[in-house]
Amino acid sequence: MRREKLFSNDGFYPFIVESNVLLHREAIDCGRHMFELLLKKRTPERPLTVLDLACGGEPIVIAKIMESFPDRCFHYTGIDINPDQVEQARSVFEFPKNVTEVRINEGNAWDFRTAEPALKYDVIFMGMNLHHGTPEEIHYLATRIVELLEDDGVFINHDCFRPDDQPYLRRPDSHPENPDESFQLLDKDVLSSITEPSFTLDEVDSAATEPDWRIRYRQSLSTTAIERGGNKTGIESMNQHVNLRDYPISLQDFHKIFESVGFKVNTQRYNSQDSLGEFIAMAVASKHGVELTAQ
Ligand SMILES: C[S@@+](CC[C@H](N)C(=O)[O-])C[C@H]1O[C@@H](n2cnc3c(N)ncnc32)[C@H](O)[C@@H]1O
Repeated sequence: MRREKLFSNDGFYPFIVESNVLLHREAIDCGRHMFELLLKKRTPERPLTVLDLACGGEPIVIAKIMESFPDRCFHYTGIDINPDQVEQARSVFEFPKNVTEVRINEGNAWDFRTAEPALKYDVIFMGMNLHHGTPEEIHYLATRIVELLEDDGVFINHDCFRPDDQPYLRRPDSHPENPDESFQLLDKDVLSSITEPSFTLDEVDSAATEPDWRIRYRQSLSTTAIERGGNKTGIESMNQHVNLRDYPISLQDFHKIFESVGFKVNTQRYNSQDSLGEFIAMAVASKHGVELTAQ
């Protein structure tokens, strides 16, 4: 269970979002297009149901997208593990007026046994959380998402991905200096309850030298945050988090994992000159395939 200061009300994450370090603005543009496609297939009377996994206290990407369709109506469910983010999203964050139902649940967004009501959703969104999962945990998540999505629904993931041609580095199971602090997103018994296909990731030994791409990724994050005026303490807390917990799969891996449960996958790198453009992208999984457009 992860309740980190970085993502608390007085943490550094609101600055990261506000200054677009993680390309949230690009995600809004790209995600809006996905909603447009879906809304065309729906009658205006029917609210679109949206599930936001690891929503945070300010679910800005989804809120901005929903706001841009003022004639349509949305029912929103968010899940977050951090109680103060849940409280912020419930009581402080202002959802647009066309979001006529808002539910925020406290719980683990990766383990639907603890947090998920038994509904089907038109859209399931995850922003900036998938990069903490191992391929096995992501596969488990994909098996749950495929069950929870309406037949023509979409899973939209705005996240960090390592470059396709670079080796995978596996996240440790626990904090290197404190074995009691688990980094696992799912209990081992949950993972062992399903059969894993074999994903042949180009994986390097965790004890080996850190791959170049990960050093570059951390440096780009840090440099961008400094250039945009982030304060020293905040940047340190971000670096510490990234160093300990960010072990992203690649877009190619995303294809393999989500296709293994029956999804069609479309991915889009944002058309951004940003130095993080190499690492941040949108991946969309649906049962029928969708068309992502260049921005
Ligand atoms: C990087 S923020 C992402 C917030 C938002 N989705 C976005 O796109 O900006 C990560 C959020 O995930 C939450 N979180 C981390 N692990 C989680 C888990 N296992 N289940 C639910 N929420 C989690 C944190 O509390 C934090 O609010």
